[in-house]
Amino acid sequence: MTPPMLRLATEEDLASINDIYNYYVEFSTSTYQLQAEPLHARTAWFHEHHPDRYPVTVVELEGRVVAWGSLSKFRERDGYWPTVECSVYVDHRYHRRGLGRMILADLIVRARRAGFHSIIGGISADQTPSVALHAALGFHKTALLKQVGIKFGRWLDVIYMQLMLD
Ligand SMILES: CC(C)(COP(=O)(O)OP(=O)(O)OC[C@H]1O[C@@H](n2cnc3c(N)ncnc32)[C@H](O)[C@@H]1OP(=O)(O)O)[C@@H](O)C(=O)NCCC(=O)NCCS
Repeated sequence: MTPPMLRLATEEDLASINDIYNYYVEFSTSTYQLQAEPLHARTAWFHEHHPDRYPVTVVELEGRVVAWGSLSKFRERDGYWPTVECSVYVDHRYHRRGLGRMILADLIVRARRAGFHSIIGGISADQTPSVALHAALGFHKTALLKQVGIKFGRWLDVIYMQLMLD
């Protein structure tokens, strides 16, 4: 088997990125989005990103995109410029092969290189794999927001995990 290859995403990857994500929209509290993301919205999202400052990355395995990650603005207001928010989604059929770690470790390198001061992950508190992944890469829990979402008829808490970069 060829090793996984990490690279910057291109517009051709957006359908795969969306398929990976929309699985979690339908079946998981990983995202509180309730309706599938349409491709045109994903395309608009992609164009808000930038290879140097707000990158979107993918991992390819045997010619197929099986995971993606991104650095996005933490908040729109200008004063938040030192802070970036990370996202990592691995195709549900490819968990526990080190791909999430590969994506997030690379995003940390890119965030540091871009001059950000910290990275924040906003994670549903019931998402043990995601909390564990962020903790494994040095993020610390800095906030717990109680009952801020509802999905599948359940109240959901959000944990913010933060990694200081300098
Ligand atoms: C969270 C997620 C990205 C992890 O990806 P993954 O490729 O399965 O994780 P990895 O194999 O790289 O695991 C890296 C580390 O994360 C932790 N981890 C990952 N899955 C875990 C699980 N099910 N239980 C406990 N720890 C877990 C472990 O510390 C692991 O290190 P180890 O394998 O040496 O024990 C993946 O489960 C996923 O896509 N979940 C849905 C989307 C999501 O929640 N994204 C995060 C919010 S933005």
